[in-house]
Amino acid sequence: MTLKIGWIGCGVHATQMLLPQLVRHDVEIAALCDIDGDRLASAGRQFGVSSLTSDAEELIRRSDIDAVGMAVGPGQHLVFGKMALERGLPVFMEKPPSGSAAGARELLAASEKSGKPLLVGFMKRYSAGNKIAANILRSGRFGAV
Ligand SMILES: NC(=O)c1ccc[n+]([C@@H]2O[C@H](COP(=O)([O-])OP(=O)(O)OC[C@H]3O[C@@H](n4cnc5c(N)ncnc54)[C@H](O)[C@@H]3O)[C@@H](O)[C@H]2O)c1
Repeated sequence: MTLKIGWIGCGVHATQMLLPQLVRHDVEIAALCDIDGDRLASAGRQFGVSSLTSDAEELIRRSDIDAVGMAVGPGQHLVFGKMALERGLPVFMEKPPSGSAAGARELLAASEKSGKPLLVGFMKRYSAGNKIAANILRSGRFGAV
């Protein structure tokens, strides 16, 4: 089944890293959102999407999407993430999941309440290179941080 995705935030990371990977899978980007009209139009052209909006709430309220993805910023991730989860939609968001640990816990609670997954792009924390660097820092061999 082709997943229909609504995507918020058409900035550098979304257009250069996330959306190009997403479209390799069995998905259709049903709608895009950005408050910057030029970026929105450019992403629409690059990824062949004609439903474009500057209003994230309008995108989240669409009846024809299966999940929401976003790469915007901490405050928007919290607000839009909760809105999408409360609407019963699974969410992928880039890090950080809000500007505070309390906000991240609010998102966790919203995910648990709706029973829908919330995935966060915390890949750096788990990457082999970063783990090796962290071990070297902790070993004391590196010196004071
Ligand atoms: N995991 C990683 O390796 C990685 C790498 C780069 C960026 N990121 C994260 O991705 C997110 C985006 O980063 P970026 O570098 O692409 O930033 P960016 O500024 O290029 O993109 C953000 C986009 O969001 C749009 N936007 C802002 N407010 C909005 C709103 N209310 N509604 C709709 N669109 C809105 C902006 O116009 C902009 O186009 C950040 O949270 C950043 O930390 C993660």
